[in-house]
Amino acid sequence: MTLKEKKVVDKEGERVDAFSKYKKDSRAWGAWAESAVSINSPDAILKLVPILKKHGVEKVIDVGCGNGRNSLLLAKEGFNVVAFDYSAEALKTVRDRAKDEKLEVHTLLGTVKDMQMIPDGMFDAVISCHVVDLYKMHDIKKVVNELKRILKSEGIAMIVVFSDDSKMFRDRTSNVNHGVEIEKKTVVYNQFEAWHNLMYHFFSKKEMKELFKDFKILSLEKMRQDEDKFWVLVAEKIAGS
Ligand SMILES: C[S@@+](CC[C@H](N)C(=O)[O-])C[C@H]1O[C@@H](n2cnc3c(N)ncnc32)[C@H](O)[C@@H]1O
Repeated sequence: MTLKEKKVVDKEGERVDAFSKYKKDSRAWGAWAESAVSINSPDAILKLVPILKKHGVEKVIDVGCGNGRNSLLLAKEGFNVVAFDYSAEALKTVRDRAKDEKLEVHTLLGTVKDMQMIPDGMFDAVISCHVVDLYKMHDIKKVVNELKRILKSEGIAMIVVFSDDSKMFRDRTSNVNHGVEIEKKTVVYNQFEAWHNLMYHFFSKKEMKELFKDFKILSLEKMRQDEDKFWVLVAEKIAGS
């Protein structure tokens, strides 16, 4: 890493400040930590590895890294990985796991809605699994713009989000889910305490294409997990966009 790049890697002082700033928002991590094993983005990451290698990717950021399962997989494959999340607890888990597995993974605390500390075009690849769908469309557009900004020209993006033909969406108002559709295909769930007010947007294929119109879409496939389905998008940032 060059000196400039080091600025984005968390230091103790920055982490303490940022922790108080984002603490109130990091509840999504707690809910996720319990259910993470059931949602299968690592398979999609393994499929992505040869594409990243073919494109000469070195620096990858895992946005909303959670417990770091994908960051660690990529580090094992030899990529230079920054694990990014707004949960200090999640990042500590990533550091501990990396240490146990003798891998180097840099961690960075911040919110995906505003990644000002990261210079434009810094990463060769951006991955974000089960994060972009945690917002309303207005914020989703901001998030996608940020992901695009920090990605270099012709860099690779890989995004995993809920599809609108998921059971979770179909059964949104059931007695289990207690969901309320607050915007078209954006549902707030009140399943149980840990998931209270957790929000998801469920994407159609058309929406995905529209959202990533500044990218050349390399693949847009549905991944099935039990009765839920997820879009796995792999795309290249068009030069000059
Ligand atoms: C559903 S988990 C997915 C974790 C990981 N990507 C995976 O596939 O295992 C969502 C993660 O995104 C983080 N997150 C949610 N909103 C975020 C935001 N605005 N900025 C940064 N991280 C966020 C949460 O803290 C949580 O760790």
